[in-house]
Amino acid sequence: MMSIPQYIELEGGDRMPRIGFGTWQASSEVLEKAVEAALDAGYRHFDTARAYENEVSLGRALKRWIGNDASRRKELFVVTKLPPGGMHPHLVQEYFDASLNDLALDYVDLYLIHVPFAFEHVPGDLHPANPDGSMKVDLTTNLDEVWKTILKLKETGRVRHVGVSNLNEEQLKRLSDIKKPECLQIEIHALCQQESLVAASKELGIPVVAYSPLGSKALADTLAAKTGRQYPDLLTLPTVKRIAESHGRTTGQILLRYAIQRGIAIIPKSTNPQRIKQNISLWDFELSGSEMKELATLDRGENGRICDFSFFRGVEKHRDFPFKKQI
Ligand SMILES: NC(=O)c1ccc[n+]([C@@H]2O[C@H](COP(=O)([O-])OP(=O)(O)OC[C@H]3O[C@@H](n4cnc5c(N)ncnc54)[C@H](OP(=O)(O)O)[C@@H]3O)[C@@H](O)[C@H]2O)c1
Repeated sequence: MMSIPQYIELEGGDRMPRIGFGTWQASSEVLEKAVEAALDAGYRHFDTARAYENEVSLGRALKRWIGNDASRRKELFVVTKLPPGGMHPHLVQEYFDASLNDLALDYVDLYLIHVPFAFEHVPGDLHPANPDGSMKVDLTTNLDEVWKTILKLKETGRVRHVGVSNLNEEQLKRLSDIKKPECLQIEIHALCQQESLVAASKELGIPVVAYSPLGSKALADTLAAKTGRQYPDLLTLPTVKRIAESHGRTTGQILLRYAIQRGIAIIPKSTNPQRIKQNISLWDFELSGSEMKELATLDRGENGRICDFSFFRGVEKHRDFPFKKQI
């Protein structure tokens, strides 16, 4: 069996568990129960964002688990993100404080720039929209300056590590010239394998975390209903099914193990106790070299991307919009 460390070591010796728990698109009550199930199943790495509007629920469940034993906090690795409305140096602290307050924690383990583009700062509205449904995009923001401010936030001790999400290769290199991000969180799954960005990140020594590693069915369904575009269901692809059957595993486990064997960390989301357990039970089987090659052929490159932010109409006008333009 090949040996893959279950943790990724970060600056200062902190360890980020390679399998984390995603929390996007889970309603408050459901999420609290799911986080309890995740803690029982052994997850210690939790991924949220100001924009998910669920930090209070996650914080509540974590606080119950920590209880009176403050040393338990050190076992957790909690990640949250600066929302698009906070993309100005003078707003970073305010948005960060709001996250920390809602999470009811003294510090977060990793703070990420969620996206390189920006919305206008509208107090009380994390997704400000124009009357025609397009987003109130703030075209004046400067990604490099926001990154410099995030780096300063680290000096307060209330953020142990800082990183980025949804950046392209050029942006990642640009920010690395200022100071290397400690993590890159991007969409990665069998249809969108991001080989070039993963390689660039590896070269820079930046750990990669795959979001939507199972193909984010809820988002794919929402986008399909809006745009008519068809999104293949990764979990029922014949290749994945065949490999799953031969290992006596679920297709979800095959997709997740594939990312792990590519050296990538994962943050699958589930609110179902059985699937929550399955998604962290990946250490006792291994995909063969030929299975890895077969799974590699499923990549559709840019066409496989699901989370292209087309649901935020207008953001492609921002000069730091990271993907191939939708329009
Ligand atoms: N940085 C960013 O911009 C960004 C963007 C997107 C996501 N994320 C983060 O990444 C996390 C994961 O991505 P995601 O939530 O988009 O999608 P995902 O983890 O790829 O997929 C979640 C979906 O798969 C289902 N599922 C989970 N485990 C399964 C299994 N073993 N078999 C079959 N179905 C399974 C879930 O349903 P059930 O709940 O019913 O199991 C849910 O519908 C998010 O929750 C969020 O924390 C970050």
